[in-house]
Amino acid sequence: MNASPPTIVKIYISVIVLCAVALLFWLFSFVEINAETIKAGIFFSVLAIFADSMPVQLPRGGRVTVTEAVAFASIVLFGPLVSVLVMLLANIASESISKSKIHRLAFNCAQFVLATGTAGLVYQLLEGSGYNNSFENVFPYIVATFIYLAVNCTAFSLIMSLEFKISLYGIWLTNMRWAIPNLIMLAPLRLLMATTYTYTGPLGVILFFAPLLLARYIFKSYMDTREVYINTLEALADALDAKDRYTRGHSDRVANYAVELARRLKLREDEVEAVHHMAFLHDIGKIGISDELLTRVGRLADSEFDLIKMHPVIGEHILKELTYLGSFTHFVRSHHEKYDGTGYPDGLKGKAIPLGARIITLADSFDAMTSDRAYRTKMTSEEALEEVRRCSGTHFDPELVEVFLDLRSGKPAEEACGTFFATASVVEK
Ligand SMILES: [Fe+2]
Repeated sequence: MNASPPTIVKIYISVIVLCAVALLFWLFSFVEINAETIKAGIFFSVLAIFADSMPVQLPRGGRVTVTEAVAFASIVLFGPLVSVLVMLLANIASESISKSKIHRLAFNCAQFVLATGTAGLVYQLLEGSGYNNSFENVFPYIVATFIYLAVNCTAFSLIMSLEFKISLYGIWLTNMRWAIPNLIMLAPLRLLMATTYTYTGPLGVILFFAPLLLARYIFKSYMDTREVYINTLEALADALDAKDRYTRGHSDRVANYAVELARRLKLREDEVEAVHHMAFLHDIGKIGISDELLTRVGRLADSEFDLIKMHPVIGEHILKELTYLGSFTHFVRSHHEKYDGTGYPDGLKGKAIPLGARIITLADSFDAMTSDRAYRTKMTSEEALEEVRRCSGTHFDPELVEVFLDLRSGKPAEEACGTFFATASVVEK
């Protein structure tokens, strides 16, 4: 988050903090705490602080820790108040260590209080109890798990949406998509941790913590590998651009234009992410074409142009290896298709061209027009936008052109949004 968040974000944080404080007071008003509970609470808090010091970052700003495992074990064992205090202490400790700004500290603590508190209350309401090893606890536990996830994801996604003006639904779906497998995989372990504590006490839980850390390590390794692979390919795309002084920074700018357009279309955040990666890597297939051919200023023979026309197909082939983005590689294949069907490599027409590819085509062309080339000087932004308008319906999707023109002229999103956006999705093929 920025040093000084917008007013709407400040208001939102204040509301979340007030709700969390109210929930805490309410819980204190009817929950009795004895010496045994205090001892257990301190033990679980230390465990939670330890777990929270090792987060795994999610692609669009969220994070996953095994802290929730500790919080859930304390929900099952001691109810909502102790689990809320455990999460509160863990978050205050980790945010203080990372020297977070006060508004971030307040928000994170408050949203975890709300998520853990409501999950704990739901677990109690459904008559879940950790002290008997009964199957009757499974249903309340599952419901509480999903309540926790929903509150946590919604609170976090809302602040991201307000601060960065991105689609709430998009960011919420992206965060849920990443968090659900993690939560489901670890759910049985959490229940087992509570049972272990009941029968063996703190020592058993400390031994039990090892597999949880292993699970976290595997998840982090996956996220790191994904990041490294994408970074390597993007570095390759950068290197390709840099070989020719006229295309330096091209991929980066195309990715930025494409993301702006995708966000204006209110695509889901995971789809925006896919558009970003595919736009950045749209010309990666040029790696398979000779430099001499790519940088030649004079006219190309038909056979030579046919070779250059292979780069979208080569690019798609390279990117197919990216399993998590593999279903979006057709954007790269189709980034030279034209709306009237005269493009390549497949001669697709109109909406048969994937939306992601239509977005990249527009972004790619606009950047090419507003950059110097060996054979011509760059157009002004106004001239390039005029050219985009002229090619609406032939080269470019006319609906996208309207949105792009609104975007570049600085029109607010509300004015630019019509019914088209409500149904827009890059998944359409
Ligand atoms: Fe290209």
